[in-house]
Amino acid sequence: MSVESLRAELMDQSLDMPRRFRALFALRSVGGDASVSALLDSLRDPSALFKHEVAFALGQMQATGAVETLKAMLRDESEHSMVRHEAAEALGAIASDECLEALETASEDSSQVVRETAVLALQRFRYAQAKRRDAQAKNARADAKAPSSPPSARPDERAGSAKEQLSASTNGHQQSLDEPDSPYISVDPVPAAPSDVPTHALRATLLDESASLWDRYGAMFALRNRGDPCDVAKALGSVLIHSDSALLKHEVCYVLGQIQEKGDGARAALRATLENQNEHPMVRHEAAEAIGSIAADDTEALLLKFRHDQDRIVAESCEVALDIMQSEISGEFVPLVVEPPRAAA
Ligand SMILES: [Fe+2]
Ligand SMILES: [Fe+2]
Repeated sequence: MSVESLRAELMDQSLDMPRRFRALFALRSVGGDASVSALLDSLRDPSALFKHEVAFALGQMQATGAVETLKAMLRDESEHSMVRHEAAEALGAIASDECLEALETASEDSSQVVRETAVLALQRFRYAQAKRRDAQAKNARADAKAPSSPPSARPDERAGSAKEQLSASTNGHQQSLDEPDSPYISVDPVPAAPSDVPTHALRATLLDESASLWDRYGAMFALRNRGDPCDVAKALGSVLIHSDSALLKHEVCYVLGQIQEKGDGARAALRATLENQNEHPMVRHEAAEAIGSIAADDTEALLLKFRHDQDRIVAESCEVALDIMQSEISGEFVPLVVEPPRAAA
């Protein structure tokens, strides 16, 4: 399937959401200007779920050409907070100078999830700048013959759910500059805590409601990368039940979907989250997709129960999650075959 055909599927609002999401994942995977342009055009869509996923993809692609559109989305208070959150997170992932002012403004937004996202994105921005400065200084000192870049990532050894495999870049791994050791495909919003922090300290920070979101995120990603999956899932399940931050909880769900631990510890918490009508739809959405990625015995019944939820975001998330579950079960991650771009004449 060509990028043009994928674009047509992406834009076609008469198609079901899973089909359009597969086109979206495939465009993210192919990358390049034509894919970014298709994703930007698709943002004139009534579905908040769809728009937030497009913004997420643009951030994960670190598409500098999307910055102005993402800034406008972030500023637009008529957009759903989940969409504005994802725009802010994408700007944090891109982390170019043009992103700074919009994130500073958003760091005082009246929406808690937007505000907290912007604060984290600004911290990531400063962290990325410091890393770049360090790298430049190191390169300037290095002998011309010495290798000047860190060891490259090993895409063939990356872990990831079917959803992540479907959207993994075909142009090499788009790894965060912060985490060369992460076995996962995602560009994380916060770097994992350093490798010399012991696991018990990471766990304590993750569970500490008084710790900053930056530290808790860093602890969570470090545990995801190197902890025992069963223990990590249990700790994450506990955060899901006890935390007041919708932002933290939605990321906890996302990480549970990456880990795909089938033990009871996290699955009970994910179920309770999806069932909780008072929970932020952004959290229920990520819980639904994590449940789909885990693909346990009770997954289908649970997702079918909420596929007509009164919140459109949750209902559409369950549709997409049922499709993710099917990909997990079948092990078929590439249903949309993409033709290589034609060489320029
Ligand atoms: Fe998010
Ligand atoms: Fe999401």
